[in-house]
Amino acid sequence: MINVLFVCLGNICRSPMGEAVLRHKAQERGLGAQIRVDSAGTGDWHIGKPPHEGTLKQLKLHGISGKGLKARQIGERDFEAFDYIVCMDDSNERNLRKLAGGAHVDILKFMDLLPQEKLREVPDPYYTGNFAETYRLMDAGCEALLDKIAEEKL
Ligand code: 4NP
Repeated sequence: MINVLFVCLGNICRSPMGEAVLRHKAQERGLGAQIRVDSAGTGDWHIGKPPHEGTLKQLKLHGISGKGLKARQIGERDFEAFDYIVCMDDSNERNLRKLAGGAHVDILKFMDLLPQEKLREVPDPYYTGNFAETYRLMDAGCEALLDKIAEEKL
């Protein structure tokens, strides 16, 4: 089993969208039983909440289930439990590296999956309101992540 965790700040906009999109694409490739996907936030404000309505609207628009998505905060044990931790921006990355200590896990930046894009961080739609942009990036980046996982681990 390959374990993938998406991380953003609140775990209600970007990372739950990534979670739902990657799970959907893994199932489409017949890898649903081999890849476990989860998401978490570095912050604690929205623990237990469903995703932002903008995230749910994009998922629905693209025929992707948002069922079961519920915000949680990252914890120490996540650094042991996941093979890939994929964060959305530089601030997430700094926070993760502080929390990780010496744990051996790959911390990736989502936009490093998309080197052809000018953006180097996933803009936060909580502030920009542009959830369609978030979806476009999650769609392309999750394809690239599945290619990477297939190459490295499967
Ligand atoms: P996310 O967006 O990190 O993509 O889930 C945010 C959600 C909530 C807040 C900030 C960013 N907030 O400050 O409550």
